[in-house]
Amino acid sequence: MIEKQAVGEKAAQFVEDGMIVGLGTGSTAYYTIVKLGERVKNGLNIKAVPTSQKTEELARKLGIPIVTLADVEYIDIAIDGADEVDSELSLIKGGGGALLREKMIAYAAKRFIVIADSKKIVKTLGAFPLPVEVIRFGWEMTAKHIRSAGCVPQLRLLDDHTPFITDNGNYILDCHFSEIENPAELEKQLIRIPGVVESGLFVGMTEEVITVQNQDVHIIKK
Ligand code: 5RP
Repeated sequence: MIEKQAVGEKAAQFVEDGMIVGLGTGSTAYYTIVKLGERVKNGLNIKAVPTSQKTEELARKLGIPIVTLADVEYIDIAIDGADEVDSELSLIKGGGGALLREKMIAYAAKRFIVIADSKKIVKTLGAFPLPVEVIRFGWEMTAKHIRSAGCVPQLRLLDDHTPFITDNGNYILDCHFSEIENPAELEKQLIRIPGVVESGLFVGMTEEVITVQNQDVHIIKK
């Protein structure tokens, strides 16, 4: 079994009857969602809040009941992938462009489980370009301000060279830092810039990461 499948399916085991579940986005979360779809077919009673239109489509196809943030007081458990996880369990997310909804849903969750194959575990964040969601208006100016945080921001483009548009109608700037020494400080610095909607830095949001070590599924806890 590939690592993404192993960690994705492991996380699905933590979901219990009656829970409101935040469903992540990406190729690792895919395996959690498929497993939950199987369990729902076998009688598991859950309601899910998806972090993207793509995830919503998949969940609906699998028969998982969908609700929105407006329908719930809180989320019992959110399960999502990551692009990088450091030793403090700070994350870079947003490789799939869903970082804003992912962060809102993780924040609303009592428990946020991250699923990450072994390649995602790093000492220091930053080799993966940090996705930052910005509004389209004046994005060039926003990019200049972000550049002063010490990175090279690049507008995310699709294969046909048109800009990638998020589910929220915004652009993504992929910001090349190479090393992020202080993720908490950078997160604060970025969110202060007008035009920035949210950054893909998730600091202090999770206390458990399911990964693979020495070919075994392993849970890193804070
Ligand atoms: C999407 C994300 C994903 O969780 C992250 O990009 C990891 O994706 P994958 O599981 O496909 O490697 O943040 O916005």
